[in-house]
Amino acid sequence: MPTVLALETSCDESAAAVVRDRTVLASAVASQVAEHARWGGVVPEIASRRHVEALPQLIDQVMVGSGLAMAGLDGIAATVTPGLAGALQVASITGRSLARLHGRPFVGVHHLEGHLCSALLGEAPPQPPYLVLLVSGGHTELVRVDAAGAYTRLGRSHDDAAGEAFDKVARLLGLGYPGGPAIAAAAAAGDPRRFALPKGQVSRPEGGIYPYDFSFSGLKTAMLRLVRSLEDSGAPLPLADLAASFEQVVADVLVERSCRCARDQGLDTLVLVGGVAANRRLRTLLSQACAQQQLHWHLAPLSYCTDNAAMIGVAACQWLGQGGDSPIDLGIAARWPLEQAAGLLERPAPF
Ligand code: KG4
Ligand code: ZN
Repeated sequence: MPTVLALETSCDESAAAVVRDRTVLASAVASQVAEHARWGGVVPEIASRRHVEALPQLIDQVMVGSGLAMAGLDGIAATVTPGLAGALQVASITGRSLARLHGRPFVGVHHLEGHLCSALLGEAPPQPPYLVLLVSGGHTELVRVDAAGAYTRLGRSHDDAAGEAFDKVARLLGLGYPGGPAIAAAAAAGDPRRFALPKGQVSRPEGGIYPYDFSFSGLKTAMLRLVRSLEDSGAPLPLADLAASFEQVVADVLVERSCRCARDQGLDTLVLVGGVAANRRLRTLLSQACAQQQLHWHLAPLSYCTDNAAMIGVAACQWLGQGGDSPIDLGIAARWPLEQAAGLLERPAPF
């Protein structure tokens, strides 16, 4: 069972973890949310600077927490794609330098593969094949997992990611950043059926629709129009009902299309991962729909839904267990398809 030190700096969380196979020996996350909140979203330059400051302390913390010395590690892992280029470079250069210095293999990990692997942390991990609904600030995807490293994307958003829609609508409602937890908190006391909102179907150019794809831009516009017309009426905005109705339609659409995709694919297990998977309404609706449709469901542990390094460590342990590692001169890429995650272990380096 390989043991790795894993680093994650792809967006606005600096994180380090020591992981043995699927067991977290130590994990630490330094969130920058409070600082970015002032600007209403992530400022890339600030994110990079904070990663540079935070990472050494986090590495120290998890190494001490794990009780291991560098010699006790079988590899060093870092997220190398996708993400903010300047931010990704911090974990990349730190991880590759440590690997070089201590003569350990380096594993460059795809951030979304990390999210997929967050489902393997915790009791009774799902057994492939299964379908994953991956919903984060940057991605909304339905991914078929046939084995470790064997991923097929079956659905995606054509515009905003679900988390991005939460963030933008929260800003519209004046609820602050990040929008997901802010909307969830406001929605708790609201009526989720008060306002009818569009579910955003994606048309095929040749006719019909893409049954497993998503579009949140129409919903965003509908929320804007609704808020403007309510404001024109002069009454105070019914924030709780607006937040609850928005949260409900996003959760409904995610659950309906995921369940349909799982059934059509003949898959009996649906797995929920990513930052938006922390949403309680979504977790509840998904488990209810799966129970009704005789599907097994698996929710990633709440603490590993948002960005962390433990999930990156699990992905790296899988690759090391298969005898794979990355070239030490592997760089970073702002974008790279999840289906080609195995390319990060090939020589010459793909980027
Ligand atoms: O996976 P993540 O931490 O970072 C990315 O890789 O994007 O996801 C962050 C996203 C943000 O858009 C945030 O608003 C959303 O996850 N989020 C939530 C909740 N907690 C975080 N969305 C809905 N409900 C939540 N409770
Ligand atoms: Zn993420």
